[in-house]
Amino acid sequence: SDLDAFIAGLPKAELHLHIEGTLEPELMFALAQRNGVAIPFATVEEVRAAYSFSRLQDFLDIYYQGANVLLTRADFRDLAIAYFDRAAADGVVHAEIMFDPQTHTARGVAFETVLTGLMDGIADAEARHGMSVKLILCFLRHLDEADAFATLEAAGPWLEHITAVGLDSSELGHPPEKFARVFAAARAAGLRLVAHAGEEGPPEYVHQALDVLGIDRLDHGNRSLEDPVLTARLARMGMTLTVCPLSNLKLCVVDDMADHPIDRMLREGLRATINSDDPAYFGGYVADNYRAAAAARGLDRDDLALLARNSFLGSFLPDEAVAAHC
Ligand code: HPA
Ligand code: ZN
Repeated sequence: SDLDAFIAGLPKAELHLHIEGTLEPELMFALAQRNGVAIPFATVEEVRAAYSFSRLQDFLDIYYQGANVLLTRADFRDLAIAYFDRAAADGVVHAEIMFDPQTHTARGVAFETVLTGLMDGIADAEARHGMSVKLILCFLRHLDEADAFATLEAAGPWLEHITAVGLDSSELGHPPEKFARVFAAARAAGLRLVAHAGEEGPPEYVHQALDVLGIDRLDHGNRSLEDPVLTARLARMGMTLTVCPLSNLKLCVVDDMADHPIDRMLREGLRATINSDDPAYFGGYVADNYRAAAAARGLDRDDLALLARNSFLGSFLPDEAVAAHC
């Protein structure tokens, strides 16, 4: 339709994307074969059939299992190139992508292997698509503070290539305050700060992300809407929320896309953006997320253009580059 074409043609930034969550079943099989890694699936159809989740943890279990096929620098390069090609086709001109080093270092894959492979992919995206890319190193919140500190330490030689740190994985029972000191150290090292909060966790976790971590951007943030004072504060401070509609549906953060709060967020004055989170697992890349939200909530071209504009305003690009995109 016209709106589909408008969405695909709208220049946009993707701000909430886990590169390990872009591993399509076809590439999973190819890498399993290339590396001689066994996977518990016989066919691509079997893999897709396993992607049925009733909560975040169901997804995480299968997402970490999928990552087992990623072993070499070339694997991370190929993974990243496949994502950037899809993103470019969806109108993404700037991407700030997250990676989970602990998922790999815990299996004996060196931090350097992960980082250099992703950097190879980024160089390819810059050359072939003219895309700009920034990297966000995420700490796994189900692991302890010492493990996060060891990861920040491993990143030390690579800090000029890393823009921000983030916080992902199992939210309930792992509040932001668990990582207060490691986030303070990341800030002192010149990194920007983001955190997943208010996806499954309560508004209190969003308060902690603001007050204890001092985040620059909020990943998901859906449950902030349960707290009117928090909602007003986020709006007043111009905090960017990286909202992921298809993820929210697949992980049962919303029961039905018809109930998605994306338009309510905009009405409340929140700087909401639309992103794809883990597109290989949730059924669509960023344009699919714009389309699904638009269809379910009746978003018009002005709403969609505002969401795309918000994605640049909420990015970590320098002011001149933001202005050039808006
Ligand atoms: N939430 C928490 N952890 C994650 C997610 C998510 O949506 N995607 C990948 N790791
Ligand atoms: Zn996420």
